[in-house]
Amino acid sequence: MLDVAQFDLNAIGPDFIEDPYPTLAALRRNDPVHRNSDGSVYLTRHDDCLATYRSRDMLSDKTEAFGAKFGECPLKVHHTTSLIFNDPPYHTVVRKLISAAFTPRKLVVMERLIEGIVDQLLDRVEDLGELDLIADFGMMLPTEIISFMLGVPEDYREKLRGYSIAILGALDPVVSEAQMKAGNDAVTEFGAILSDLIDHRRNNPDGAGEGEVLEALIFGEHDGRRLTQEELVQNCIFLLNAGHETTTSFVGNSVGLFLDNPGEHRRLLDDPDLIGTAVEECLRVESPLQIGNRLAGEDIALPSGAMIPKGTYIHTSIAAANRDPEVFADPDHFDIARKPNPHIAFITGIHVCLGASLARMEGKIALGRLIARFPKLAANGPRERLGLARFRGFTSLPIRVK
Ligand code: HEM
Repeated sequence: MLDVAQFDLNAIGPDFIEDPYPTLAALRRNDPVHRNSDGSVYLTRHDDCLATYRSRDMLSDKTEAFGAKFGECPLKVHHTTSLIFNDPPYHTVVRKLISAAFTPRKLVVMERLIEGIVDQLLDRVEDLGELDLIADFGMMLPTEIISFMLGVPEDYREKLRGYSIAILGALDPVVSEAQMKAGNDAVTEFGAILSDLIDHRRNNPDGAGEGEVLEALIFGEHDGRRLTQEELVQNCIFLLNAGHETTTSFVGNSVGLFLDNPGEHRRLLDDPDLIGTAVEECLRVESPLQIGNRLAGEDIALPSGAMIPKGTYIHTSIAAANRDPEVFADPDHFDIARKPNPHIAFITGIHVCLGASLARMEGKIALGRLIARFPKLAANGPRERLGLARFRGFTSLPIRVK
């Protein structure tokens, strides 16, 4: 029996990473506003997480925390310039300018691109017969899409996932020196590539390919202000990170769920129209981003009754909130027709995922077509888990399709 008082988010081990849900259920039941040894709190109830995300007094600016964690280095510049780790008014301006990449018109173009990319990748899947779903499918999809969006030429695309993992890995609660170096190298290298691409597009605004959004980001204006070169570079790196690892994990986790739940696999094969609710259920049960963070800018009372003093660092367990029995009946059960499904895999509030519509579209097309085209889809060996607490996914998921 887990002693929840002893749990410390800053000292979690491989067992938690493999299967965090029993620990999260015990915390949610017995200690839903858990205090870690460093004074931060870990929230596991849906209503407490929701209130945290909706409160204007809960801050995302991490200049101080990242200063202490990283010191002066490229990782600090990157994370403190990205919109996700900023509050209004900077956040409002950058979010408005980056929204230009996700207008309904842009999404229509993206839908055609995604269908084409998915079908091409699935032709290759068919030829391979036996493959690693992550390397041969899940990883390639977001790389292709984000490369279109940022105008990244084909030669660089292979490197993108490495950059993304290295930069995001450095955000985990416990980080080695090697992880820190890899993160800094990734920001420097990818930043230099993007800076060149931005300069090129600035000088050749009419040369953009279909689906590219760089030009809108460079020349877009909000209240007479444009993004600076540094803001452009760091927020483009952020777009890669935001859309890359999450989408790869989304596809991998979803396929993992279908392989582990043959009844639901059969159900989707019999009724492909369930793909919309199925995608939402995959996002709920195995949320790709499992932990969020905020800083209390004022004393705040949570719905569960706890008082959070100003200055407290808060970790929101998206994973626990999405299995809260107060909100979801039989929460550990994977039900592809679940409705309503108020999960917070994309959170809510002013930082709600800007790419949520794109991600849902990618999920529906990728998963829907993979499952419909290969009814014999089956596991083909042991899976390897991504060893991070914040991001849940696989590094390898062997499958066969014939
Ligand atoms: C299944 C895939 C995805 C998941 C689960 C996901 C999840 C999230 C979450 C939880 C946040 C809020 C973080 C916070 O403030 O604490 C977020 C923010 C964001 N996401 Fe996503 N995301 C996904 C895909 C994407 C894609 C494909 C893109 C774009 C290419 C994207 C772009 C963004 C951006 C720009 C933000 C920052 C919004 C802001 O701070 O105002 N995401 N995402």
